[in-house]
Amino acid sequence: MPKYSDELINEIFSQNDIVDYVSQYVKLKKNGRDYTGLCPFHKEKSPSFHVNQEKQLFHCFGCGAGGNLVQFVMRTEGLDFVEALKLMADRAGIILPENDEPVDDKLYRKKKRILEINKTAARFYYEILTKDNLGKAGLEYLKKRAIDSNTITKFGLGYAPDIFDALKKYMNRLGFTDSELLDAGLVVLRNGKAVDKFRARVIFPIIDLRGNVIAFGGRIIENIQKDGYKPPKYLNSPDTPVFNKGKNLFSLNLAKKDCSENCILCEGYMDVISVYKAGITNITATLGTALTEDQAKLLMKYTDEILLCYDGDEAGQAATRRAIDVITSVGGKCRVMQLKGAKDPDEYINKNGPAMFKEVIKNSLASTEYLISLIRKKYNLDTEDGKILFVEEASTVLSKLQNAIETDAYIKKISDETEISKEAIYAEIRKHKSSGKIAGGPKRTVRTNFTAKKQESGIVAEAERKLLSLIIESKASYNAVKNDFLPSDYSNELLGKLAEIVYGCYERGEPIDSAVITSKFSSDEADYVSGIFCNLETYTDEKNTIAQLVNKIKIHNLDIKIEQAKKEGDVLKLKELLDLRLRLGRE
Ligand code: GTP
Ligand code: MN
Repeated sequence: MPKYSDELINEIFSQNDIVDYVSQYVKLKKNGRDYTGLCPFHKEKSPSFHVNQEKQLFHCFGCGAGGNLVQFVMRTEGLDFVEALKLMADRAGIILPENDEPVDDKLYRKKKRILEINKTAARFYYEILTKDNLGKAGLEYLKKRAIDSNTITKFGLGYAPDIFDALKKYMNRLGFTDSELLDAGLVVLRNGKAVDKFRARVIFPIIDLRGNVIAFGGRIIENIQKDGYKPPKYLNSPDTPVFNKGKNLFSLNLAKKDCSENCILCEGYMDVISVYKAGITNITATLGTALTEDQAKLLMKYTDEILLCYDGDEAGQAATRRAIDVITSVGGKCRVMQLKGAKDPDEYINKNGPAMFKEVIKNSLASTEYLISLIRKKYNLDTEDGKILFVEEASTVLSKLQNAIETDAYIKKISDETEISKEAIYAEIRKHKSSGKIAGGPKRTVRTNFTAKKQESGIVAEAERKLLSLIIESKASYNAVKNDFLPSDYSNELLGKLAEIVYGCYERGEPIDSAVITSKFSSDEADYVSGIFCNLETYTDEKNTIAQLVNKIKIHNLDIKIEQAKKEGDVLKLKELLDLRLRLGRE
């Protein structure tokens, strides 16, 4: 097996998200600090399968299966470690070196560099907006739009000053070259010279699910017009190696934890920000393009139902119809919110407040009902012709439904309305069904060709396990234990191996990266190791708990030695051990 550096493996893990990937197989719901769902590795009715996003590990408390993302892929795809690692590298656009080839993947270094540039630029824009005189115009503009400083910080908003190379110069000074800034889409060439892409604009950073700044949107400030030329209202980063407009959503990073039931999808940055500010946080937006299948699938990983909340104008209505098509074609469910008396969600919530906005959510129409209502408006149902045309067109909508009960309910309603028989409507629907192809839902096949072995459990193993999980949780716990309890003191071999790695990380001042560490174990061992990382217990008095655990383990180990001394008849040794035992017992 080729040996990959920890750095490279680390990079592959950091460019993939376990929740994101596992969601393709398991419907996950946010549950406390974990995501939970039905385990794909054994049959169960209530979810005991946990995915911890922070630790990038999965663990099933039912069957004991567990590990990191690559180990999940190994199991579901039946691959070995290297094959699974390659698959994940591929997914992240990282090129793995072939067997003996030296590590040289330009793309991955480039991506890393762009993310660094974006993070630095976002900070620059934020500082200008919040602390610099150059940002005054931006701050005033946001104030006018009722955006407070908390909201500015929450979304990391910024301001690009009205200077043609402010960012460029700042970044150059930090060692980022023009060519790198071009790659990141932050500068453009004008007469062969690099100048800032965003100037005199309020900046909206676009942040992915792992917290990386992947792109920017910039809004012009009203009344700033130059040389009679009217610049576009919004300017967005171009697609770059780290950004694809059609694959990301604005603010999903903030929405994801609150949108398991449903998630509002709107058109603009400002819509998201205003609604979020009013306390409705399950909201996201596309990035200035029509909703794509990728975006719909992405959103569906986090929510059961999408609430479309597009602008009220004709363009917004057309976009709503297209979005319904896209969402249903990938097997999703959506409803349509209808805002009255405002052009978009931002205006609506500023005018009417969150309570009224929630009413709009409550009164939203199921997508089918919405589509049928649009068709109904087109025809005069008082005439026979009108009824027939209405039924014909409504049938095309109903033919796309996957759910028989739902279809039946609509047929009944339409039949009552038009006095056309249900059978006739059925026949019409069947006609459309056979002519059009019906999209299937997302693929959810999982191979389950493994058995999870549970590690031996005993009081001491349990105490050692708890101790090590406390050590993993905090360096303070490590410091309290390190001289008292060495990796070689663990009676459980696997725990000893894990302790050695963890202690080593602390000693070298490296972070405890659970996913990378878990890579060092075989699949079967990873079941146990992931369980330690994903430990669900919380300890209130850590210091005391640690002391008790260490004591318990030591007493147990002494008892074993005492038994042995008794057997051997070594009286001197026995006395020494018993004394020690007495002392420990008093502690
Ligand atoms: P505000 O006027 O700030 O309230 O904007 P909005 O959020 O209401 O935006 P609007 O409905 O005009 O547009 C919705 C989204 O489309 C914006 O958030 C942008 O992502 C995108 N967009 C709008 N105008 C432009 C433009 O001129 N160019 C580009 N590339 N995108 C735009
Ligand atoms: Mn608006």
